[in-house]
Amino acid sequence: MSKKFRVAIIGCGTIAHSAHIPNYLKIENVEITYFCDIIPERADEAVKKYGCGKAVYDYRELLGAEDIDVVSVCTHNDYHPVVSIDFMRAGKDVLCEKPAAKTLAEVLDMQKTARETRRMLSIGVCNRFGTAVNKIKDLIDNGDLGEVYHVYTAFRRQRSIPGLGGCFTRKDSAGGGVLIDTGVHYLDLILYCLGEPKLLSASGKAYNKIGWDIQNYVYSGGMWAEHTADFENGVFDVDDAVTGLIRTEGATISFNGAWAQNIAESENYIDFLGTKAGVRLAYCGNFKFYHIKNGMLMTSEPAYNTKDFYEEEIRSFLESTVTREPNRASIDHFVPTAKILQGIYDSSDQNREVTL
Ligand SMILES: NC(=O)c1ccc[n+]([C@@H]2O[C@H](COP(=O)([O-])OP(=O)(O)OC[C@H]3O[C@@H](n4cnc5c(N)ncnc54)[C@H](O)[C@@H]3O)[C@@H](O)[C@H]2O)c1
Repeated sequence: MSKKFRVAIIGCGTIAHSAHIPNYLKIENVEITYFCDIIPERADEAVKKYGCGKAVYDYRELLGAEDIDVVSVCTHNDYHPVVSIDFMRAGKDVLCEKPAAKTLAEVLDMQKTARETRRMLSIGVCNRFGTAVNKIKDLIDNGDLGEVYHVYTAFRRQRSIPGLGGCFTRKDSAGGGVLIDTGVHYLDLILYCLGEPKLLSASGKAYNKIGWDIQNYVYSGGMWAEHTADFENGVFDVDDAVTGLIRTEGATISFNGAWAQNIAESENYIDFLGTKAGVRLAYCGNFKFYHIKNGMLMTSEPAYNTKDFYEEEIRSFLESTVTREPNRASIDHFVPTAKILQGIYDSSDQNREVTL
């Protein structure tokens, strides 16, 4: 890319350090001009670690800055809409982490702002850039699976509640639990592979059966996002497990997801069930292809060169800011996923199937 990009990172936590910053820095002509975090040490440390940019502790100080072209929003979910909308109104293109927002209404506000301001707004649904995911999408598009009539996904962890009592487990901060945090990735990649079929209805149940009892929660090993935990005063008022059925004009989708279930071991996969063949994708891994040949059920384990999905995500976002064409992770593509998340939570609250 020949254009020069000046980048502001808003929120200097895990995803900023593991995905956004290193991948921006891989790309020539990219300069990170600001690191912003409400915890000042985190912004200061980022400046020191990467040897570039200025530290800022309130993103609003950057709304008038001329040395910013694009912004990565890497805060917790509650700040995604307000920060993204403020920067779009300030004339900046935005890459906002998933799940875009806590509610569908907020996601639609973000989409409306992107249209009004003619800004690019991409969401961090990185699996759309995964090599295996795109190989499966190609197989489906080529008809190699026949009619894909059902997709089942399991995102069930035996013990994986993040930062118990902190911002990931509080509804006011996160909007929800395992469905909006983890399920969002699985459901979004399924819709992407299926070619984003028209959605009809959602029926589901979100549970809070294990995490509510913070003091007695038994977990083995570590806890991701432990730095956000607050065992003393924190609350857990989000879903630690969820099940659901989505009807579309094409395949149905069903799922069983959990941050914590009393099961033997975790299961993280997606089964695409077609009339000619089936595929099982190990989440963030390889896939197997099951088909009939000469009266035999064959299993293939394809091998292929892979690319880093975070790097592809960042490159695609930057490219879209040049072409002014929304990319495959643009807010428009994310809205159907947001409708499913909202639909499952509404269905659970109302104890009935809801129209999407
Ligand atoms: N795409 C992925 O695979 C992926 C993986 C992990 C996390 N995420 C998403 O990234 C987001 C952040 O998660 P994380 O694990 O990095 O959390 P984190 O707690 O490690 O980092 C978040 C940072 O944002 C800062 N922050 C909060 N509000 C702010 C504000 N108003 N202005 C500036 N800084 C602010 C916090 O102080 C913290 O340093 C979440 O929305 C999460 O869902 C995505």
